[in-house]
Amino acid sequence: MADFSAMEKDLSSILFNEKQIETRVRELGELISRDYSGKNPVVIGILKGSLIFMSDLIRRLTIPLNIDYVAVSSYGRSTDSSGVVRIVKDLDEPIEGRHVLVVEDIVDTGLTLRYLLDNLQSRGPLSVAVCVLLDKPSRRKVDIKPDYCGFEIPDEFVVGYGLDYAENYRNMPFIGILDRSVYEGK
Ligand code: IMP
Ligand code: MG
Repeated sequence: MADFSAMEKDLSSILFNEKQIETRVRELGELISRDYSGKNPVVIGILKGSLIFMSDLIRRLTIPLNIDYVAVSSYGRSTDSSGVVRIVKDLDEPIEGRHVLVVEDIVDTGLTLRYLLDNLQSRGPLSVAVCVLLDKPSRRKVDIKPDYCGFEIPDEFVVGYGLDYAENYRNMPFIGILDRSVYEGK
């Protein structure tokens, strides 16, 4: 077993281990494959947080599909979303007339997704749905409910499996709660 203790020491607990994530991603893959049968969707990952989830998820999708990416940056403190979002890397291809599935790491206040969904909607897709790995429903500021969700989590700041704090911890293959001592007072 690989030893991630150099990063794991900053966690107060592990929320989901590799096995739990793998099982849930497989379930989501089966569900989405069924729902999108014959639809040839374009699966859009939001960089960078969705990177690992997206790569695991699409390998569980048994249907023909295309992938694309957008990168957004949000201003504000790194454990809190400001809602001011900017597209820093746009899609490579138009989505007009396509079924779109947006893949995101986590929905917290919902401000990032709201902005992005409105933006994508304006480009004339046939449909737009959202698949998130994690949902923190208690923190929602706008009315948004993901169509597919891996796990609902409590109001804690989590890292790993693509999720970062100040660009760190993305490469841990499991998801943990970041100890408050790491970011409090910053
Ligand atoms: P929202 O706009 O508040 O929904 O925030 C969404 C974005 O904030 C996500 O794409 C993440 O990049 C980041 N985020 C929110 N909560 C967490 C967390 O617990 N850990 C890591 N990133 C988070
Ligand atoms: Mg993100």
